[in-house]
Amino acid sequence: MSEQPENIPHPAPEAQGEQRVRRGSQRFAPGEGPAPDPAGSHYERRIRSFQPRRSRVTTGQAEALLKRWPDWGLDIDGARVLDLDEMFGGLPVVLEIGFGMGEATAQMAAADPGTGILAVDVHTPGQGNLLGLADRNGLTNVRVANGDAIILLREMLPPESLAGCRVYFPDPWPKARHHKRRLIQPDFLTLLAPRLVKGGLLHCATDWEPYAEQMLEVLTAHPDFENTQADGGYAPRPGFRPLTRFEGQGLDKGHVVHDLLFHRV
Ligand SMILES: C[S@@+](CC[C@H](N)C(=O)[O-])C[C@H]1O[C@@H](n2cnc3c(N)ncnc32)[C@H](O)[C@@H]1O
Repeated sequence: MSEQPENIPHPAPEAQGEQRVRRGSQRFAPGEGPAPDPAGSHYERRIRSFQPRRSRVTTGQAEALLKRWPDWGLDIDGARVLDLDEMFGGLPVVLEIGFGMGEATAQMAAADPGTGILAVDVHTPGQGNLLGLADRNGLTNVRVANGDAIILLREMLPPESLAGCRVYFPDPWPKARHHKRRLIQPDFLTLLAPRLVKGGLLHCATDWEPYAEQMLEVLTAHPDFENTQADGGYAPRPGFRPLTRFEGQGLDKGHVVHDLLFHRV
C-alpha cells in the first residue's frame, strides 16, 4: 500500500471543541445535502441492518457537505439506475457498505486512485467527514451514497457493475433477537452476487467472533461465492485494508479480527 497522505487522520479525532450544529431536515436544501429519508416510505418496511442514530454534524462536516454533496454525493432514493462509468470516468468501482467516519475509505482511495469507491452509509456526520477528507486530499475517486445499501443494490445498481464489495465491521447485532438484522445473510449475498463482475471480490471483516463464524458459514454455503483460501477458512488481513475506527475499538477490548475474502463465481 502506498504511503498515507499525512493529512488523512488515522483515525480522525472528533473535532474537539468544534461548534456542533444539529442537522435537521431544513439544514440542507434539496440537492445541497443528504436527504433525511431518501427512499421515503415508498419501499416496504423491512428489517434494517443499521441503528437509527441522532445525526449531529460539526460545522466542518456541514461545510464539506454543502461544498461537495452536489457533485460527489447521492441520495439512495431507489428511483433511478446509476451509470457508474459516468460517475467514475470508467474506473472499476468497489462498493463499500458502512464506511462509518470514512477515514479508512479515504486512505484506500488515496492508495489506489485507479479504483473508484462508492461509499454508502446512513450516518450524516460520517458522510460530511468523508467528503471533507476527499476534498482536502484531492480524492476524486470517492462518491458518497446516503441511505440503505440494500435499496442501492436492489434498485440502483446494474448487473455486473461492481468490481468488488467491502463490508468492514458491520454492526454485530449481538443479541439473539437481533441476529436477523445482521447484514451478511444468504438473501444479501443473493442480491449482491449478480451486481459483482465474475471474479469480483467480496471482502468482509469483523471483530465479533460469532458473526465471523456466521459470515464464514453463509459465504461457504452460497453457490455464487468461493473462498479465496484453499483451506476454506479466514484470510490473512490484506495489506490494502487500513485499520478502521471500529476495528481499533474492538482491538482495545481484546477482540480478534477476522477477514473473509470470497470471489464471485
Ligand atoms: C459498526 S459501523 C463500522 C464503520 C466502519 N466500517 C468502521 O469499521 O469503522 C457500521 C456502519 O454500517 C452502517 N450501515 C449498517 N447497515 C447499513 C446499510 N444497510 N446501508 C448503509 N449503511 C449501513 C452503519 O450506519 C454504521 O456506520
